[in-house]
Amino acid sequence: MTSHRGLTTTTLCLAIAIAAELLAGRAEGQCQNTKCGDVEIPYPFSTSLDKCAASAFEFDCNDTGNGVYKPFYGNVEVLSVSLQLGQVRVMNHISSSCYNLSSKEMDSDTWQLNMTGTPFMLSDSNKFTVVGCRTQAYIADQDYVGKYMSGCVSVCRRGDVWKATNGTCSGIGCCQTAIPKGLDYYQAFFDDSSMNTSGIYNRTPCSYAVLMDSSNFTFSTTYLTTSEFNNTYDGRAPMVLDWAIRSANSCEEAWKKMDSYACKSTNSECFNSTNGPGYTCNCSKGYEGNPYLEGPNGCRDIDECQDSKTHHCYGECRNKPGGFDCNCPAGSKGNATIPDGCRKDFRLPLKARLAIGAVICVLVGLFSFLGWEVIRHKRSIKKQALLRQTHEFFLQHGGQLLLEMMKVEGNVGFTLYERGEIETATSNFNKEHIIGEGGQGTVYRAALNGVNVAIKKCKEIDESRKMEFVQELVILCRVRHPNIVKLLGCCLQFEAPMLVYEFVQNKTLQELLDLHRSKRFHVTLGTRMRIAAESAEALAHLHSLPHPIIHGDVKPSNILLAEGLIAKVSDFGCSTIDENTQAVPKGTPGYIDPDYLLEYQLTSKNDVYSFGVILLELLTSKKPLSKDRKSLTLMFQEAMAEGTLFELLDSDMVDEASMRVMHQAAVLASQCLVVPGMTRPTMVLVAAELRRLALADEVQQCPQPPLVLEDLSFVEMGSTTSGVYSLEKKAVLSIEFAR
Ligand SMILES: *[C@@H]1O[C@H](CO)[C@@H](O)[C@H](O)[C@H]1NC(C)=O
Ligand SMILES: *[C@@H]1O[C@H](CO)[C@@H](O)[C@H](O)[C@H]1NC(C)=O
Ligand SMILES: *[C@@H]1O[C@H](CO)[C@@H](O)[C@H](O)[C@H]1NC(C)=O
Ligand SMILES: *[C@@H]1O[C@H](CO)[C@@H](O)[C@H](O)[C@H]1NC(C)=O
Ligand SMILES: *[C@@H]1O[C@H](CO)[C@@H](O)[C@H](O)[C@H]1NC(C)=O
Ligand SMILES: *[C@@H]1O[C@H](CO)[C@@H](O)[C@H](O)[C@H]1NC(C)=O
Ligand SMILES: *[C@@H]1O[C@H](CO)[C@@H](O)[C@H](O)[C@H]1NC(C)=O
Ligand SMILES: *[C@@H]1O[C@H](CO)[C@@H](O)[C@H](O)[C@H]1NC(C)=O
Ligand SMILES: *[C@@H]1O[C@H](CO)[C@@H](O)[C@H](O)[C@H]1NC(C)=O
Ligand SMILES: *[C@@H]1O[C@H](CO)[C@@H](O)[C@H](O)[C@H]1NC(C)=O
Repeated sequence: MTSHRGLTTTTLCLAIAIAAELLAGRAEGQCQNTKCGDVEIPYPFSTSLDKCAASAFEFDCNDTGNGVYKPFYGNVEVLSVSLQLGQVRVMNHISSSCYNLSSKEMDSDTWQLNMTGTPFMLSDSNKFTVVGCRTQAYIADQDYVGKYMSGCVSVCRRGDVWKATNGTCSGIGCCQTAIPKGLDYYQAFFDDSSMNTSGIYNRTPCSYAVLMDSSNFTFSTTYLTTSEFNNTYDGRAPMVLDWAIRSANSCEEAWKKMDSYACKSTNSECFNSTNGPGYTCNCSKGYEGNPYLEGPNGCRDIDECQDSKTHHCYGECRNKPGGFDCNCPAGSKGNATIPDGCRKDFRLPLKARLAIGAVICVLVGLFSFLGWEVIRHKRSIKKQALLRQTHEFFLQHGGQLLLEMMKVEGNVGFTLYERGEIETATSNFNKEHIIGEGGQGTVYRAALNGVNVAIKKCKEIDESRKMEFVQELVILCRVRHPNIVKLLGCCLQFEAPMLVYEFVQNKTLQELLDLHRSKRFHVTLGTRMRIAAESAEALAHLHSLPHPIIHGDVKPSNILLAEGLIAKVSDFGCSTIDENTQAVPKGTPGYIDPDYLLEYQLTSKNDVYSFGVILLELLTSKKPLSKDRKSLTLMFQEAMAEGTLFELLDSDMVDEASMRVMHQAAVLASQCLVVPGMTRPTMVLVAAELRRLALADEVQQCPQPPLVLEDLSFVEMGSTTSGVYSLEKKAVLSIEFAR
């Protein structure tokens, strides 16, 4: 009896102890990894049921029908969460634009995703992917708040679907464009106003655009003619988001606030986030588990000896914290980490050992001599190979032809730079030297022979275009105009040609207009008209050369502004001159001539159209495209027809005196924007008219305040993260065509 009571008491005590343990565990807020349906949700993420994680890290676990549970973040389905990569995969909605037969208009269905203030950022492993036959689609962050807008154009010449090829997404039926890091807002939209697809409705009823994981996309021509692309994942596509603990900007900052430090596990390490501010945690080497959890669920030592095959131990394995020892069994010697690495340990008599030692010494001497010789030989071969390759590139890019042409032409003021010079000047193409990245190549800042230059690394050029390329170079280097960025020389000794341009210190017209739009700087009408006139003169000069050059990508970010806000047109060179050899569509959404999209043929009238858009931008200070309104050209044409132009113009500049000039400039712009383009004025006429307007008395009255660049940009940016400034700069330059 006593023994029975004793047992009961013990059981009771045990039960109480266990309950207390459990309670204590709860009270400490011990969170666990959890699951929703089939998806593992490791801490710091959690579901709203557990009420464990901070709300920014909480997913809803919803029944999607038939008792199948799936996690959602807002209205976005979450596919998987990776702690090690700091990424989650989600399903992004596909935006579409279809021609509506009954209303005869384009019906757009567009999406946006606002992740401001969440742990997530769009990963730059995604690509903005557009499918369609007469489509301009854009990706942007928040209008007027953010600075980013990019997009691409997808066409099929005269709506001919059969020009598109399976697996190729380079502008025909499909286009893709990369996005920069640091974006936390996504919106996709279409420019429907200039793209009427009524003519190709039968073959390609809809266009699609979505930011998606590019590794999960292979273009198929059936995407154009059927709704297969939209249907594959039920109107959605997989996308990658980068996440991090964003309560501190970096590890260093997090260590100062130890109580909120997220890397709770003892054997964890902190890493700066690779996308945006913040940090992520990882288990130290030799440990696995969840670095965000304390105790047994945190980082645990990996018992390497359990799985000695992957950790390579063929002898006696002994696990130790953070690693393992691997030794040969007793009585043998050698390296146990290689198969059959252990040998029986036996001893030879002293004499034998000495003899063996001597032989080994001789052999080692011999072999090291031989080895040294071989290395020397190899080195010289390698050096020769590099020289030969360098020379081959030179020939491939038409270097010989260029030399001959230069001989014939006499001194053209054009330098052929050596490979070594370029490599030294750019510190071997160090990222720090990059000042711009665009569709045609990357631009580096460098000093050559004490002169500041911009070096442009072209995308590799087409085999068939090499000869033309050289002819273009010879033509380009003779282009001398005060408003055109000067080509100083080139280097043909790389896989891709390098062009060396004069360095223009100041900003681009795009940046100047952005400064104005954000009310940080006032650009007077006089300055605008002068910049317009100078740019028009530069283009007119290019068009009227004996062998005319068509720019093909006229836009504000290609108009550089030198000291005193002097316009200098840039960014031709890697591009083509010949009208008939365009392989890939070229141009920038918003500035591209609708005629070109239909005919797919570059002419000087295309430049006139793009310039007309710039002129509109200068008059209205509005961006050519915005999700929330019609395109600027369409608004302008309507305003001209209805006589409401006054409302569209930039109110900062409208006053009685300048109204006459603004009106005349607007009439000129409307002539530039005529579609089809036959009746557009030539660039020469446009330039003459603008020069006249720029010199008019009334626009000369108001003096332009000087632009103090560095102060302006850095005072403003100081409060936010340092990455934003470079993002802004790069984003502007990346508003380009995808290739
Ligand atoms: C999931 O369920 C929550 C709570 O019932 C609801 O607020 C949310 O809208 C649902 N999400 C989706 C995508 O259905
Ligand atoms: C974290 O550790 C895993 C495995 O050791 C590794 O693959 C991953 O790259 C690490 N992540 C970071 C951010 O270093
Ligand atoms: C086409 O437009 C009409 C009128 O605007 C609308 O009622 C109809 O739903 C649209 N059709 C489709 C397929 O969107
Ligand atoms: C599109 O083109 C068709 C035929 O060319 C025309 O009837 C229709 O009005 C156009 N729609 C728009 C919105 O411009
Ligand atoms: C996105 O979310 C942030 C923070 O919640 C908010 O400030 C911002 O206005 C939102 N943007 C849009 C366009 O809704
Ligand atoms: C592309 O592949 C699809 C099947 O995946 C096929 O139906 C189509 O004919 C192919 N297109 C071309 C141009 O080969
Ligand atoms: C993405 O592609 C990979 C391999 O191509 C495939 O295994 C995976 O299931 C795809 N993921 C999604 C969400 O479609
Ligand atoms: C794409 O798929 C979604 C989901 O099935 C559907 O709601 C949408 O209407 C489809 N869009 C088009 C253009 O077919
Ligand atoms: C993390 O970022 C901070 C500030 O950007 C920097 O000072 C620090 O060196 C970085 N730490 C590591 C480990 O990269
Ligand atoms: C054993 O061999 C491995 C692989 O070849 C090598 O990395 C390691 O340094 C060797 N260990 C010793 C003690 O020689």
